[in-house]
Amino acid sequence: MQIITTKSELTRQSAACLRQGKTIGFVPTMGALHEGHVSLIRRACSENEVCFVSVFVNPTQFNNAEDLQKYPRTLEKDAQLLASLGVHFVFAPTPEEMYSAEEMAVPFVFDFEGLDKVMEGKMRPGHFNGVVQVVSRLFELVRPTRAYFGEKDFQQLAIIRYMVERSAMAPQFQGIQIIGCPIVREPSGLAMSSRNERLSVAEKQTAVAISQALISSLEWAKSADVATVQQRVIDTINAIEGLEVEYYDIVDKDTLQPTDKWQNAVGCVTVFCGSVRLIDNIQY
Ligand code: PAF
Repeated sequence: MQIITTKSELTRQSAACLRQGKTIGFVPTMGALHEGHVSLIRRACSENEVCFVSVFVNPTQFNNAEDLQKYPRTLEKDAQLLASLGVHFVFAPTPEEMYSAEEMAVPFVFDFEGLDKVMEGKMRPGHFNGVVQVVSRLFELVRPTRAYFGEKDFQQLAIIRYMVERSAMAPQFQGIQIIGCPIVREPSGLAMSSRNERLSVAEKQTAVAISQALISSLEWAKSADVATVQQRVIDTINAIEGLEVEYYDIVDKDTLQPTDKWQNAVGCVTVFCGSVRLIDNIQY
């Protein structure tokens, strides 16, 4: 496995693979790898001839300086794991390598036609502009055949699909297949997340109530309307000491707009467990 830190070396390696007619699987990450990432990487390795993974805590997608500062950075451990999984190339640049000073200072703006005005986009203004900024740059450099993203970040996945399928911004992205992979959960049901590393043992136990409420809501949805179930999920989670729901929205899977129908619906939740912001979702 080769660890690459410059954009020029990354393009050189990916261009060499493409010249040889190899398919490239790509998994963009911010590191602090867990079983959720492992499932994406295993799939990328098995479905493609070459596997690239990026490990980059992207500053432009954080709208909270403390969150950026506290984001776990574990490159050495991540690299060992990636080597054991059979990854061929890891791209781990510095922010200065990825962006010019101007790009760091001036927010990148992309028109998502409203996909970013709800849920995470509403709560974290500018977040998805930063995500699209880094993912589009990575796609330009790697030119993957297939790129893999977790369904835990449901809105992110929808926005990246939108960027690739409908964007006139970068016609060269149009052939890239975006593969969404199911949420990986701990045996307790807690959705795997790099942020779980910031939870104490007690908080981890408390946080299990989030997935329990979502799973129970599948039953509730059999006999109640969307608004009733939405409120019941919020009340159930808020009743647990140490948890506070930021939003629980039941939206259409494609438009991400609130829906009052169960057909094609997904429920997306964000909950503060102490100071740690956790997200999860369930498809009805
Ligand atoms: O999901 C993530 O870890 C990040 O948002 C991504 C896609 C790697 C972009 O920085």
